[in-house]
Amino acid sequence: MRKPFVAGNWKMNTDGRSGVALAQAIASGSLQQASRKVTVAVCPPFVYLQSVAMALRASSVAVGAQDIYFESNGAFTGEVSASMLKDIGCTYVLCGHSERRHVIGEKDVLINKKVAAAIVGGLLPILCVGELLGEREESKTEEVVTRQMKEGLVGLSDEKVAAVTIAYEPVWAIGTGRTATPQQAQEVHNFIRNLLAEMYDTPLAESIRILYGGSVKPDNAADLMGQQDIDGLLVGGASLKADDFLAIIRAAV
Ligand code: 13P
Repeated sequence: MRKPFVAGNWKMNTDGRSGVALAQAIASGSLQQASRKVTVAVCPPFVYLQSVAMALRASSVAVGAQDIYFESNGAFTGEVSASMLKDIGCTYVLCGHSERRHVIGEKDVLINKKVAAAIVGGLLPILCVGELLGEREESKTEEVVTRQMKEGLVGLSDEKVAAVTIAYEPVWAIGTGRTATPQQAQEVHNFIRNLLAEMYDTPLAESIRILYGGSVKPDNAADLMGQQDIDGLLVGGASLKADDFLAIIRAAV
């Protein structure tokens, strides 16, 4: 059985004080019961990771980074390695988020190195995939997702892939208020699971969690979670409001 997983991606939001307050509100909000049934993580900006991790250390809420660099140390100005993230208490790391792909310009080859480095460094990567609006309109969703999955995971053994979570985030649904319908999301999630079975094997594909992201809100979370291949939610905007994020966690139980 796949344990539901709800992760909040704070993106480039909050400040030191509000980030810690948000983390504390999430930790103390009715999570005690839910947390046993749902994996919960928050992904603050790099500079607040340590203070948020400290604020959450007595709770079951995990901390994730929004990005990573694939080298372990050295002359890579501005970059942050897996061991540094691990050192300050991170468990997860987003790799290939759509904003990194489409705003910053990251390609699959780089994303693959990040996924691999995260696993070697003891972190659990969340590989984000998803098509642009134009690609969906041209019926290229499966083609794009296949490329992102195959290139993103290339070279990883079965054992390593078991550490990966996939997040399907259609780019047209991110921050737009335009959620994929539960059926649209389920279709792609099922496609991704079948693809994983093809790339690895069925038991492994059945064990990997596939999250949906893109305008997830308290009022659509339960319907999305009701789909067979939707194992969790990667939440942007609504993860910045403790009440909304807590409501989404409850909807995922
Ligand atoms: P929104 O929930 O704000 O649409 O963002 C989704 C997302 O990109 C999460 O990583």
